[in-house]
Amino acid sequence: MVYPIVMYGDPVLRKKAKEIEKGTDLSELVTSMFETMQAAKGIGLAAPQIGKSIRLFVVDGTTLDDEPDMKDFKKIFVNPVMLNEHGRPWAFEEGCLSIPNIREEIDRPEKIRIRYFDENWNSVEEEFDGMKARIIQHEYDHIEGKLFIDYLSSLKKRTLKGKLADISKGNVDTEYRIVAPVKK
Ligand code: NI
Repeated sequence: MVYPIVMYGDPVLRKKAKEIEKGTDLSELVTSMFETMQAAKGIGLAAPQIGKSIRLFVVDGTTLDDEPDMKDFKKIFVNPVMLNEHGRPWAFEEGCLSIPNIREEIDRPEKIRIRYFDENWNSVEEEFDGMKARIIQHEYDHIEGKLFIDYLSSLKKRTLKGKLADISKGNVDTEYRIVAPVKK
């Protein structure tokens, strides 16, 4: 099932998401999340973006043709815990399916160590770097109620205010279905 993507301004994007009870069957939800992400041509999607305040996100970098080490980077992260982020911060222009048509350079540390469960509730601890780490950092932020625009300077945020207000009213062009928090 393809869900509409929740737009900026919805309180669900600002909540610290809840842990999922261990052993819960996630197969249907995970399938829907991949379908929703693919329909929106995203490379990551967190559960709050489909209105569910739970600690789950999916990533798929396999469509990034210019990133050969992304070939197998299609994963599910359940109840993840960021153990550490380290390495030299680097800048990259990020976007977000919940904040369409805005892209901004964001600094993030280059390496992470993360513990999570896979879809079968196997516990995994893994390190990632570069673009993989960045995608995970962005999605992890979502389940903490954080968005990439939070890293921008207050000056930059002010310049985006109008666009963000439009997005929260659903006043934005997307090729995917959206649900906006503010009635027009
Ligand atoms: Ni996002």
